[in-house]
Amino acid sequence: MTFELFMMQTPKIVVLVSGRGSNLQALIDAQTKNQIQSHISLVISNKPNAFALERAQKAGIRTLVITDQNRKTLFKNLLQTLKNENPDWIVLAGFMKILPPEFIQTFPQKIINIHPSLLPDFKGLNAQKQALEAGVSQTGCTVHFVDEGCDTGPIILQKTEAILPNDTVESLSARLLQKEHACLVEALQLLEKKS
Ligand code: GRF
Repeated sequence: MTFELFMMQTPKIVVLVSGRGSNLQALIDAQTKNQIQSHISLVISNKPNAFALERAQKAGIRTLVITDQNRKTLFKNLLQTLKNENPDWIVLAGFMKILPPEFIQTFPQKIINIHPSLLPDFKGLNAQKQALEAGVSQTGCTVHFVDEGCDTGPIILQKTEAILPNDTVESLSARLLQKEHACLVEALQLLEKKS
C-alpha cells in the first residue's frame, strides 16, 4: 500500500491526556493488534510529567505538551494544534479539563470521552465514589460524544459493572478501568464502521 493510500484510508486520532494513560495504552494495544483501523497520530498532554507521554513515546507516537499555566493560552494553542492536525476523532482519555464551546463547534461529533459511570448518573469527578455513596448495586462506564455540558453528550457505548458488598473506591475503580479499556476500543470500532 502506498503512503498516500494509507493516509486516505486510515482514520486519524488525537488523544488528549493528563495522567496515567491506561486508556491511551488500550488504544495503542488495539492499534498494534489491528483491532482498530485508526492510528494515533499525536498525544497531547496538559501535564509535562504525565505517564501517558511515556506510553506514547514508547509506542513511537508523537507527543506534545501544552501546559495550562494560563487557561486562555492553553486552549488557544490546543485549538490551533488540533486544527492543524485535522483528526477524524479526538479522544479525551483522562484529560482533566473541560473544553470550551469553540472546540465542540469546530469538531462536532468528533470529540469523544470515557467516563467511569453509567451516564447520566454520576457526572463529574470521583464518579466511582459517587456510585458507592449512592448505594447502587451496579455502575459502569460510558463512551460518549462531548457536547458543551459536563459528561452530557450523546452516548456511543456503555458497559455495566456490579458493585460488590466489600467494594472500596480502589477496588471498584480497578475493575471499572478494565471495562473502560474494552469500552473505548469497542466504541472506536463502532465509529469506524459508521464512518
Ligand atoms: C479514567 O477512569 C477515565 O474514565 C477518567 O479518568 C481516568 C483516566 O485514567 N476520565 P487513565 O489515565 O486512562 O489511566
